Amino acid sequence: NKKGFIFDLDGVIVDTAKYHFLAWKKLANSLGIDFTEVENEQLKGVSRVRSLEKILSWGNKTISEDKFMELMSAKNTDYLSHISKMDEDEILPDVPKILNLLKDKEQPISLGSASKNARTILERVNLKKHFDAIVDGNDVSKAKPDPEVFLIAAKLLNVKPEHCIVFEDSVAGVEAANAANMVSIGIGSEDVLGHAKYIFKDFTEISNEFINSLIEN
Ligand code: BG6
Ligand code: MG
Repeated sequence: NKKGFIFDLDGVIVDTAKYHFLAWKKLANSLGIDFTEVENEQLKGVSRVRSLEKILSWGNKTISEDKFMELMSAKNTDYLSHISKMDEDEILPDVPKILNLLKDKEQPISLGSASKNARTILERVNLKKHFDAIVDGNDVSKAKPDPEVFLIAAKLLNVKPEHCIVFEDSVAGVEAANAANMVSIGIGSEDVLGHAKYIFKDFTEISNEFINSLIEN
């Protein structure tokens, strides 16, 4: 029995969501645009381009294409300065345990992330070796909530979409998983991730029995 297990990165495997938040907040505030946890929630899982478009629309701002590129690059530079200090301590609780359990059970594992920095981050926290496939923001033409990222992952794992399980912390990502006809597992708060098939606060709440049931069913 083989299922495809697909993990989002930011906010699921590592606690980088807080760095995206800091970098977007700094940028938004520099443009005189308010940025709180509420706005941030809507940017989780959302591509870099789309995120900046949303922030500008919240502030009713229009800017030139050159300025747009400049701001995107400034945000990423700021974000990378946070990332560069990361190490294995920033892997979220019980993620290695789940990855090892899936490995023991010979289940194929892929990353399915919107980030163009995904490979860098996996290397920093030394988790790259756990993945049979990596699909990230460099590999897709349509961003989450479009299912493309997860469908490519399924193809690379050679598993049918309906036999894939996706772990996601974002609304856009849960929508993408559902649109791909995969089993969506929300990691985070029930208030936000209501559309997921299952929701857990974090991986410490996920039992071996639950993983077994995903593999068997
Ligand atoms: C997602 C994050 O994983 O990747 C978003 O949740 C981020 O916040 C998106 O905007 C794109 O990431 P990056 O690293 O390419 O800017
Ligand atoms: Mg995420």
